[in-house]
Amino acid sequence: MSLPGPSFVSGVLYGVNDAQRAGDARQALIEQVKVKTSIFAADNLITWDKTLGFIREDAFATAVNAHTRSGPERAGVWRYHTLVWAARQVAMLDGDFVECACYRGNTARIVADLVDISNRRYFLYDLFDHDETMPHHSMPAHSKTLYDEVRARFPEPNVIITQGRVPESLAIASPEKIALLHIDMNNAEAEIGALEVLWDRVVPGGVLVLDDYGWLAYHRQYSAELDWFKARGQFVLELPTGQGLVVKHG
Ligand SMILES: C[S@@+](CC[C@H](N)C(=O)[O-])C[C@H]1O[C@@H](n2cnc3c(N)ncnc32)[C@H](O)[C@@H]1O
Repeated sequence: MSLPGPSFVSGVLYGVNDAQRAGDARQALIEQVKVKTSIFAADNLITWDKTLGFIREDAFATAVNAHTRSGPERAGVWRYHTLVWAARQVAMLDGDFVECACYRGNTARIVADLVDISNRRYFLYDLFDHDETMPHHSMPAHSKTLYDEVRARFPEPNVIITQGRVPESLAIASPEKIALLHIDMNNAEAEIGALEVLWDRVVPGGVLVLDDYGWLAYHRQYSAELDWFKARGQFVLELPTGQGLVVKHG
């Protein structure tokens, strides 16, 4: 599979009654769009007449193609752009990169391919496995071997991967200064727990990306995080991708 560019149309649709009819409706809309080379339809986001500069960047397209393996994974391409933007934006700042939680390591791998991390550490956390007592949903690759599989994707010694439940696992290994914080646990309590420990360590100008913030299915995270940041005089930008974005006050 390779990214068609500059348009990007994915067959993956979430939250619809009839995927076939919804796909036909999307196709009917696309047929009415005059400029066919600038259509984005993926991850429940349809746009046209937008530049889509990120898809036109060869290095970005190569990294996304190399490190995603399924339609749903590749459909997150605009979200990957947000994260890569954030990593590039903070590249001049002191501080490590953090992802709670990394799952298969796709987004961290894409970032590490595109941004020089040789002068900082990249801390990744996940449970890597699932059982029915856990409050969040399972993912297809969860298994007893996933930690080792993710470890093998990061030969860099400065990528530190910790298996366990956030926020408790942050006590095993976590940085004192953070330039980039990516939170994606589909779980309001764990995400607020991570913020309680990590937000004060984000350096001024550092960037936080909340992957699930604007997705209706995760409205508990939206409410909890909106209030948590308001109480600190910071405001979360809800992006059309469903992500939330916060830049730490200077
Ligand atoms: C949607 S996936 C993360 C995807 C990843 N950020 C990416 O972009 O490829 C959510 C992950 O959160 C993990 N998770 C949920 N609650 C957690 C917790 N309290 N501590 C550690 N990991 C957790 C799950 O194991 C799952 O792998």
